[in-house]
Amino acid sequence: MGSKLRVMTEADLEQVLLWRNHPEVRRYMYTSHEISMDEHRNWFIGASLDQALHLLIYEQEDKPLGFVNFTRTRCREIADWGFYLAPEAPKGSGRKLGNSALNYAFFELALHKVCGQVLGFNERSIEFHKALGFKEEGRLREQHFDGSQFHDVVCLGLLKYEKQSPAEIK
Ligand SMILES: CC(C)(COP(=O)(O)OP(=O)(O)OC[C@H]1O[C@@H](n2cnc3c(N)ncnc32)[C@H](O)[C@@H]1OP(=O)(O)O)[C@@H](O)C(=O)NCCC(=O)NCCS
Repeated sequence: MGSKLRVMTEADLEQVLLWRNHPEVRRYMYTSHEISMDEHRNWFIGASLDQALHLLIYEQEDKPLGFVNFTRTRCREIADWGFYLAPEAPKGSGRKLGNSALNYAFFELALHKVCGQVLGFNERSIEFHKALGFKEEGRLREQHFDGSQFHDVVCLGLLKYEKQSPAEIK
């Protein structure tokens, strides 16, 4: 019991789409339009075949409460991550999701580094990364266009040896 991550399956598609389309989630994503089930299913089929991608469900007491992905774009040891909680997740779930995901990244996937890219106005996520130990590594100025405005993208990184051991985690 407690908190855990497991691999996402087709049975999670509907639940994940509901979270992903919630206005308080999609406004912070690079693609912020409302996603249809067909588009979502096609994304899942492609993503499941891609060895560089890990799609995961975060659970507390066996209840699905969030989505996490890791994508190895540069080499096997370094991945970008993305995540969102169920809108109804209780306060404090983010830190638990983050710690579970980072343990998975460093100890299951054996990564050396996890990288986050956050839209500049998503101050909560920037603070969230820093609370997990990420360091701000740069700001890509006006790097994202949302259809009406340009936004900065903040790059954050966490190295395995900077991560607290599982025993030290709250
Ligand atoms: C980002 C997210 C996972 C945080 O979850 P959460 O449950 O609010 O996080 P927690 O309550 O566990 O807080 C963990 C840390 O995040 C930061 N944080 C959380 N809410 C915050 C807020 N409103 N303002 C600033 N920092 C905040 C704090 O550093 C906090 O640590 P503290 O409680 O010791 O101060 C969640 O809000 C989410 O899913 N957001 C939408 C999707 C998203 O933005 N994904 C990231 C895209 S890059």
